[in-house]
Amino acid sequence: MPRHTTPTDLLEPIERASRDEISALQLQRLTATLHHVYAHVPHYRQAFDAAGVHPDDLRTLQDLSRFPFTTKQDLRANYPFGMFAVPREQVARIHASSGTTGKPTVVGYTRQDIDHWSNLVARSIRAAGGRAGDLLHVAYGYGLFTGGLGAHYGAERLGCTVIPVSGGQTEKQVQLIQDFKPRIIMVTPSYMQVIIEEFIRQGQDPRASSLEIGIFGAEPWTEAMRTEIEGTSGMDAVDIYGLSEVMGPGVASECVESKDGPVVWEDHFYPEVIDPDTGAPVADGQEGELVFTSLTKEAFPVIRYRTRDLTRLLPPTSRAFRRMGKIVGRSDDMLIIRGVNVFPTQIEELVLQHGKLSPLYQIVVTREGPLDRVEVLCELQTAHAGLPGDGVREIAQWLQHRVKSLVGISTTVNVLPPHSVERTQTGKARRVIDKRPKA
Ligand code: DLL
Repeated sequence: MPRHTTPTDLLEPIERASRDEISALQLQRLTATLHHVYAHVPHYRQAFDAAGVHPDDLRTLQDLSRFPFTTKQDLRANYPFGMFAVPREQVARIHASSGTTGKPTVVGYTRQDIDHWSNLVARSIRAAGGRAGDLLHVAYGYGLFTGGLGAHYGAERLGCTVIPVSGGQTEKQVQLIQDFKPRIIMVTPSYMQVIIEEFIRQGQDPRASSLEIGIFGAEPWTEAMRTEIEGTSGMDAVDIYGLSEVMGPGVASECVESKDGPVVWEDHFYPEVIDPDTGAPVADGQEGELVFTSLTKEAFPVIRYRTRDLTRLLPPTSRAFRRMGKIVGRSDDMLIIRGVNVFPTQIEELVLQHGKLSPLYQIVVTREGPLDRVEVLCELQTAHAGLPGDGVREIAQWLQHRVKSLVGISTTVNVLPPHSVERTQTGKARRVIDKRPKA
């Protein structure tokens, strides 16, 4: 019996609707969205015309596959406000995602968009077991990043008491948790680990803290990481997914009673999974690239936006909507090492299998002549700081062997003393350092 469940009377009617009701709502909203972008966004009008499709061609949800994809390049080409579908004066807020290269991607929200977003994050927190009246600590960064403000508005909408801490100042995070006694924390999983470490450094037991629920997202994290965080902190750890281009946090979120992958809030977003090479939709259950079409957005609607996130769609369980599997990785983060595709999450699972290693790791890729070299940096847990050299070498060999036999690549594993691997101070962890010359 799970510790938490959400009583049915707390659910919105659409969370319990039949598939027919959901599909009918999606078709109605999709039709309106296609007409909206065709009338108001030159990019979409041109792209639809070039593909020989018109919003009137959509008669069933399957017809969406005839419409062109939207990519990050399309958003960049229309920087900063060219993809807005309402006059700029009606845009109540701007956010942006920090591109690793070049200009950020700019997104906008009308008042109604923010209203829907707040409702969806409130729904996500409720699915995680949160309730009106709960104290909720937000350690996602506030600012152009959607994490902080997105979480904040949703928590307020649910009726929580929000503590807007933002990222960084880890000692202070711990102090505020000790003093204010929040029940819920919203933060990236990698920064949660840094906070847990700080508890231990201060001689505090994280399991004795007031925190009962952690709502973690903004970066890929594995089931092994869930087990690790739940074990060290005593919290229930649930997964919240989203991206700025589609809205921000709360596009999909996990139910605490099942913890079986984020539920896609299908009344506001239409998900597809496609073969990233051919663009053809794949069947539910098959892995591919996640693609979203927004169904209710006014300022920044997206049609078939290619997220570059790899996962699969799964049948409904705790809610009437479909779920997505945990994100395996982003196609951008995928390393191709001597022809083998590798995601950081595959290495993460193996690091976490060793009882003496901390959950922090980094993958450094360099090129020597024609060959790629991969170094895995990991570190001992504080409790094993005094491990003799032989013991350290044994762990390195163990991990090297596991990676070779399970992932299929040769690596050099470097087991460092405790606290040697770079910590994220504000949010998303940097798992891969690719030093290979750019092609
Ligand atoms: O990270 C929005 C967000 C904030 C989600 C807080 C959840 C919590 P971006 O900065 O635009 O937006 O980055 C979006 O982060 O395409 C995924 O690659 C990754 N991502 C987000 N959530 C998850 C998750 C926010 N739960 C990109 N699991 C996305 C895996 C995630 N990856």
